[in-house]
Amino acid sequence: MKKTVTALAAGVMLATLSMSAQASDTLIGSCIYKFDDTFMTGVRNNMEKAAADLGAEIELVDSQNRQPAQNDQVDTFITKGVTALIINPVDRSAAGPLVEKAKAENLPIVFVNREPEKSILDGYDKAYYVGARAEESGTIGGQLIVEYFKAHPEADKNGDGVVQYILLKGEQGHQDATLRSEYCVKAMIDGGLKIQAIGEDNANWDKVQGHDKMKNFITSQGIDAIEAVLANNDDMALGAIEALKSEGYNTGKDATKYIPVVGVDATAPALQAIANGQMLGTSLNDAKNQGTAAVRIADVASKGEAVTSESIGYKLTDGKYVWIPYVKVNAENYKDFM
Ligand code: BGC
Repeated sequence: MKKTVTALAAGVMLATLSMSAQASDTLIGSCIYKFDDTFMTGVRNNMEKAAADLGAEIELVDSQNRQPAQNDQVDTFITKGVTALIINPVDRSAAGPLVEKAKAENLPIVFVNREPEKSILDGYDKAYYVGARAEESGTIGGQLIVEYFKAHPEADKNGDGVVQYILLKGEQGHQDATLRSEYCVKAMIDGGLKIQAIGEDNANWDKVQGHDKMKNFITSQGIDAIEAVLANNDDMALGAIEALKSEGYNTGKDATKYIPVVGVDATAPALQAIANGQMLGTSLNDAKNQGTAAVRIADVASKGEAVTSESIGYKLTDGKYVWIPYVKVNAENYKDFM
């Protein structure tokens, strides 16, 4: 009898132990390419929130835009015994060695925002990618400009029937910079606009660089020659708007001094600029759902469970991709995202 009771008590204890262990079973190690990035700060905050909601632990580190530093951080996480990795690579073409490190430990690895080559992901069954299709946001940006010129023919300031535009691109080599640039141009042409690029440069996702590049274009082309500005993200668009404001344009106060500017991300300051009549539009780059999907995959995989659309609550494509859709944002609907 005594023996049975002891065995029972031990059984209960074990059950309690495994239950409490389960609550904190997941320890996610996550490297972000750099903390000082507006959009990735949104993703990061949402990852922390998603982990808290699941009762999972997450540790986030700043790779400070240096791939070698990130490689070392991954080694440290592995030594520490993390149960999954979420990586926002500094250089997406350098993802191969990171996948190898994870594979050697049978550790799930989820990439976010910077997409590794498909062949790299295909080389490991526990490698995943969560992101958004940049073609969509490029297309939305181009369409916003098309709609604007259809509604405002006077925006063709020199009346030549051609839209002279400036393109501010993100970081070279980033799939979002390449595809957004390509697809915004394509959407303007598909929408029936005749277009001419009068300035095009990389401003590396950065507001200050966006401002400085725009200032250079204003100086070289003259403000009157510029009829539209397309930026690969909101920070660069907002930098460009600062440069326009110093010429008395896009202040939100004088409708005759306005050049349509579009971005991507739908950050809080961009939504405010749309509200103020200083910016035409953007597209929602959904930090909340991207961050949440990445954490859910890491958590499910950490527990050794199958990663499926059902288990993570997001549509899983080809067994390893989650694509979060972009949403068009302009003066009509910006309030829905504030
Ligand atoms: C965002 C940018 C961000 C970049 C970081 C892009 O998807 O639109 O704002 O700087 O990702 O990799």
